Amino acid sequence: MSGGESLIDAGLAAWLEASDAPLEIDFGCHRGAFLVGMAALHLDRRFLGIEKQVDRVDKCNARIGREGLANALAVAGTGVEALAVLPAGCATVFHLSFPDPWPKRKHAGRRVFQAAFLRQVRRVLVPGGVLKLMTDDRPYFEEMCQLTAGGWREVPWDDGRERVETAFEITFRKRGVAPCRRALCAV
Ligand SMILES: C[S@@+](CC[C@H](N)C(=O)[O-])C[C@H]1O[C@@H](n2cnc3c(N)ncnc32)[C@H](O)[C@@H]1O
Repeated sequence: MSGGESLIDAGLAAWLEASDAPLEIDFGCHRGAFLVGMAALHLDRRFLGIEKQVDRVDKCNARIGREGLANALAVAGTGVEALAVLPAGCATVFHLSFPDPWPKRKHAGRRVFQAAFLRQVRRVLVPGGVLKLMTDDRPYFEEMCQLTAGGWREVPWDDGRERVETAFEITFRKRGVAPCRRALCAV
């Protein structure tokens, strides 16, 4: 695929309808290290990457093509609008790993994890679906914890499945930084 997949592209709807295998969303999938790694490990599940940078979407889909994975797809999309077009209850797991932290106070409004985004995450998750949050940025993590303080309960991070690390997770671990992380289930 080339030119970046658009979320309004009928290709996404067809891909979603082609299988009823459990779907995991990797929001901000970058160049697909986690998305493609997980799809290769778990062929019985589907992995949808959403990424605002079209060149990265293309890199993901090229990688998916090279590995011959029918259970993964990356699409171009930005922020909460990218979630609003997805069907309700379509996903079993929603991964948000190392979202851009926008550390300056004047830029905090640019952070993707906000109340409207969280409402969309809840909408796209199946009942009992899990939201997995990970960041190196402590203040952002605390904000995430505050936003999920009501209506969500913490569940174990380790779900017993084999997983690959995200690209940023690898980078931060090499620097000796243990990421903040939390798995949550809507109540
Ligand atoms: C810091 S990187 C983390 C990448 C990856 N999740 C990881 O853990 O290695 C953040 C990624 O999210 C994408 N991104 C940032 N803001 C976004 C937004 N509002 N909507 C969609 N993607 C976004 C960036 O282009 C980038 O690829």
